[in-house]
Amino acid sequence: MFGEQKISYSGVQPSGNLTIGNYLGAIKNFSIYSEQYKTFYCVVDQHAITVRQVPAELRRRTYETLALYMACGLDPEKNTLYVQSMVPEHTELAWILNCFTMFVELSRMTQFKDKSTKHADNVNAGLFTYPVLMASDILLYQTDVVPVGIDQKQHVELCRDVAERFNQLYPDTFTVPEPVIAKSGMKIMSLADPTKKMSKSDENTNAVVYILDDRDTIIRKFKRAVTDSGAEIRYAADKPGVSNLISIYSCFTGKTVEEIEREFEGKGYGDFKLAVGEVTADALAPVQEKYRMLLADKAALEAQMKKGAEEASWYARRTLSKVKKKLGFVQLR
Ligand code: TYM
Repeated sequence: MFGEQKISYSGVQPSGNLTIGNYLGAIKNFSIYSEQYKTFYCVVDQHAITVRQVPAELRRRTYETLALYMACGLDPEKNTLYVQSMVPEHTELAWILNCFTMFVELSRMTQFKDKSTKHADNVNAGLFTYPVLMASDILLYQTDVVPVGIDQKQHVELCRDVAERFNQLYPDTFTVPEPVIAKSGMKIMSLADPTKKMSKSDENTNAVVYILDDRDTIIRKFKRAVTDSGAEIRYAADKPGVSNLISIYSCFTGKTVEEIEREFEGKGYGDFKLAVGEVTADALAPVQEKYRMLLADKAALEAQMKKGAEEASWYARRTLSKVKKKLGFVQLR
């Protein structure tokens, strides 16, 4: 809360092509808050370098992610859209919060454990303290709600713990944020292995539907999606493949699970997969069209980055200055 204003904050890493998991679990839900909250949505390029990036690709994806935010319906007049590395207060607060985050807390993070197994040759300190930078992102803006997919819940909970610890020592410093997890899109699973999260870094591109995939590709990927034994279209724990497709269909059509089960009663997996492919392609077509238009105007995107960073900096500086004062750092006027 900044004054009387409630705040929504979230971020996406420009570390790969964005997937329908990023869209349904996060970005699609960002605009829910645009009217009644002050909203900040960040392209978190500094988080992305915890694993090695090709510089030209990171740069390109930073533009692309910003364009996708806007193409997904985030109006830059109503939402502050910006790039993390353009607001240095994030890393400055991160150092401070490092001193209020416990080693054992970070050791418990499942994403750290997963990523350090996956990138065993590069288990750097940034990978370990990644959630502290994320806490800085959130706390700098006195955030009330953080719309994210379920995989980020643990990080937001750590952020709450750090905020509460800091507030106990230095009262009334940070708003303690709540994670907001979408019901149906919180964890979209891989099409090749429905027990695994759909991830932008998956090497098997058939397992992942990207927001920018063309219609034929989308339909082909869904046709090939791994389903379960049996033939019924039913949402159940022992049918992870079909359940995942039902979730996706539900997110794109707004229909409930029961409605979908009824709609496809007596029909086979083939019909259902085609229908999921079609609704996905239909929903993404206008996003893709808008995205292409936006990406073609690099100067406008840069103007947006500048405006977003200026807006964000104003809030970030206020919180950081408050923190420094509480800690006893000398600040010259
Ligand atoms: P990232 O870039 O991995 O993912 C961006 C958002 O997409 C969600 N998501 C999914 N949701 C449902 N199903 C999936 N398969 C799926 N895959 C990804 C993620 O939960 C996330 O909400 N650490 C964050 C970025 C971040 C951040 C922040 C988020 C940095 N600072 C501050 C919120 C607030 C991350 O790596 O997200």
